[in-house]
Amino acid sequence: MEAPSVTPMILWNESQQKFETEDKKAYLQYELRNGGKVMDIVHTFVPSSKRGLGLASHLCVSAFNHAKANSMSVIPTCSYVSDTFLPRNPSLNSVVQTKDIL
Ligand code: COA
Repeated sequence: MEAPSVTPMILWNESQQKFETEDKKAYLQYELRNGGKVMDIVHTFVPSSKRGLGLASHLCVSAFNHAKANSMSVIPTCSYVSDTFLPRNPSLNSVVQTKDIL
C-alpha cells in the first residue's frame, strides 16, 4: 500500500535566505539581487534518504509563492530548478528572468 502523500511544512528563514524543512536538513538557498527585487535560487539540497519524494519541489513552490506574493522575479541558477522543477511547472516561467536582464 502506498504511503499517503503529506505536504511537508516549509519555513522561511529570512536571515539565512533559505526555505527549509522544520529540521533544517532540506533547504533551498537564495541570494537577493537588484535591490531585493530578484530572488536568485542558487542551491537546493535534500538529504539522500529523502530524495525522489518531491521535497525539493515543495521547497521550490514555497520560494516561488513568496516571490510572487512580493512581486519579485526568480533566477533559476540551481539546475534542479531550471532543468527539473520549471519544465514540470511551466506556468511559473512567467516569474523567471535571466541574468542578462540585470
Ligand atoms: N539537477 C536537476 N534535476 C535533478 C538533479 C539535479 N542536480 N538531481 C535530481 N534531479 C531530478 C531527478 O531527475 C528527479 O527526477 P524523477 O522525479 O524523474 O526521478 C527529480 O529531480 C526529483 O524531484 P524531487 O523529488 O522534487 O527532488 P528531491 O527532493 O529528490 O531533491 C535535489 C532533488 C537535486 C535537491 C537532491 O537530489 C539533492 O540535494 N542533490 C544534491 C545537491 C544538488 O545537486 N542540488 C541541485 C543543484 S543546486
